[in-house]
Amino acid sequence: MSGYFLYHSIGMFPDKQQRIAAELNRFATAWGREDDGQWGYALEQQCKFLEGWRAILNAGEGSVAQAESVTSALYTILRGLPEATVRGGKVLIAADCFPSLHFLLAETIRRLGGELVTVPAAAGEAWVSDEQMLAAWDGNVRVAILTWVTSTSSHRSDVARLVAHGRQMGTLTGIDVTQGIGIARYDCQAIGADFTIGSSLKWLCGVSGAAVIHATQELIARCTPELRGWFSQQNPFSWDLDAFEFAPDARRFGNGTPSVLPAIGSLPGLDFVRDTGLEALAADNAAKGAELADWIAGSGLRLLSPADAAQRGGSLMVELPDSMDATEVVNSLRAQALHTDARGRVLRLSPGIVTGMEEVTRLTECLSSMLGQKAEV
Ligand SMILES: Cc1ncc(COP(=O)(O)O)c(C=O)c1O
Repeated sequence: MSGYFLYHSIGMFPDKQQRIAAELNRFATAWGREDDGQWGYALEQQCKFLEGWRAILNAGEGSVAQAESVTSALYTILRGLPEATVRGGKVLIAADCFPSLHFLLAETIRRLGGELVTVPAAAGEAWVSDEQMLAAWDGNVRVAILTWVTSTSSHRSDVARLVAHGRQMGTLTGIDVTQGIGIARYDCQAIGADFTIGSSLKWLCGVSGAAVIHATQELIARCTPELRGWFSQQNPFSWDLDAFEFAPDARRFGNGTPSVLPAIGSLPGLDFVRDTGLEALAADNAAKGAELADWIAGSGLRLLSPADAAQRGGSLMVELPDSMDATEVVNSLRAQALHTDARGRVLRLSPGIVTGMEEVTRLTECLSSMLGQKAEV
């Protein structure tokens, strides 16, 4: 058990190093063997990765594809939609989205002839509420990008409710599930978003380069991605220059030679989450989160996450007072083998399965002592 509180950044699980090393070693063996089995092996492993995600999302066959990052997943979808989808209309996103997606949208939506509408948090609030999203969401919103669980407050949206509103407005809705997947249940068929994007890096304990796109059959049929290549086809070896044809399923979101290594490196993490079970992982996180929330409530620090555990993901964010330097706080916790991070004055705490309950207590004691010291100055 350790003082690791960084699941919002990189997920951990017991024996992670050995299990990833063993997986990559199997890859190295197949890849270095002087025969013709390399791609057969590698593509089979990528298929296992996609099947793992498909189970987690409860997604239909052929509806999930790998992407390099969540940002590139969104780009692939946006530049695959019929051009009239966005032109002259609005694209809605909350101000507490992951900034990389906003950087992408700001330029792409301008080029597509649409207007990007960024819904702000209410004055003094740490996250954009579902009510604020709904208030800004009218019939001219062509595409809405929702963040299931945010990276700055761990606020969990009621995405099913938002998607249902989107359907009434004729909006195409996509959900970024990166911060929630692997710690809370997400059923893409029950929620009904047109597309879902996410990475394997956080609670799913994977590696970078292993993001995914899930799209409904209807959306897949409508999308003709601009970024395309031989691996967007049903048969990648169809090389007739005049006979390019998109695969009928999510494989059309592929382009050149697939990046199999991140998918393979992510298999041990996906297996760990499946074998341990989401409910067990969520219960473990909830117990540690409750301990942190109790301490925060009595600490005088401002909680920047919802106080109601049902409305948050696996993290708790607190605002450090002006009198404390966030870098110093993170550094001095690190010196005591307690690993956290800060965004501005927001201290982010995400305990997971490797985090010891006694380390949670030790973290609160260290923070109490730092706050006490500051109060005395
Ligand atoms: C909510 C959310 N979305 C997306 C990402 C990552 O996006 P990308 O894979 O494009 O770097 C993160 C990473 O922290 C995140 O917290």
